[in-house]
Amino acid sequence: MSIIVVLCFKAFHLTAPSTIFTTWVALGNYMNPSIFAATDHYIASLFASEDACLKETLRNNENAGLPEIDVSAVQGKLLQVFAKMCQARYVLELGTLGGYSTIWLARAIPEDGKVITIERNEEYARVARKNIENAGLIHKVDIRVGTAIEVLAELDTELSQSFDMVFLDADKPPYMQYLQWALRHSRPGTIIIADNVIRAGKVLDENSDDPAVIGVQQFNKALAEAAGVTSVVIQTIGVKDHDGMAIAVVDYPQHA
Ligand SMILES: C[S@@+](CC[C@H](N)C(=O)[O-])C[C@H]1O[C@@H](n2cnc3c(N)ncnc32)[C@H](O)[C@@H]1O
Repeated sequence: MSIIVVLCFKAFHLTAPSTIFTTWVALGNYMNPSIFAATDHYIASLFASEDACLKETLRNNENAGLPEIDVSAVQGKLLQVFAKMCQARYVLELGTLGGYSTIWLARAIPEDGKVITIERNEEYARVARKNIENAGLIHKVDIRVGTAIEVLAELDTELSQSFDMVFLDADKPPYMQYLQWALRHSRPGTIIIADNVIRAGKVLDENSDDPAVIGVQQFNKALAEAAGVTSVVIQTIGVKDHDGMAIAVVDYPQHA
């Protein structure tokens, strides 16, 4: 069938058969989500292969019954790329889980740098601590146990410097509050990343009553309209579900 279509287009000089064929293949692949996972594995094999420590982290998480909601290997590597782009020494992460993304981040900062990571679940934080110790990175990581809003209020009183990078990956309803806090603790050049802001397209539903969807809708709008910030959202797809990551760089200080 596809050969007949290509021949017809060739005979009538309608358009390049290679274009038709590429489109045909692309459409066929779109129907087949396994192509996204396979491509993710291909990218990971080239750019983001997990060493024994990262693999063990995921095994420990599974054995401890943690949900499999960590970033993918490729996304972990993407976090490292962002950390290096802004020469991050001082990083804030909201949502530690078992420390998988924390390890990617801590590996990207210098020996005297610090990742402060916030986790409300004590058991998850205990697993994360063990994983980060096993990775030999605990001297670069400060795990704060508590709800993000409470811990951020504590940090307000103790911080003496701005963050170079902030990674939002905790609960979605307060994402806009997390953004506002991050902006107040940023410097020109600070990179802010927020995961899960597309939610398999549910973000398009203006009548959604899902608090997570409403949270990311508010966040995306606030980020797009924020003064002094250059930002965008990209869709993400691969071994994890269809979702999206917001990426922002602060242009000028936002201190109140
Ligand atoms: C998506 S997971 C984080 C995954 C982790 N960043 C990774 O990629 O390895 C979200 C985590 O945020 C934690 N969390 C959710 N709401 C929170 C809150 N309000 N304060 C602190 N942690 C929260 C959850 O317990 C969960 O461990």
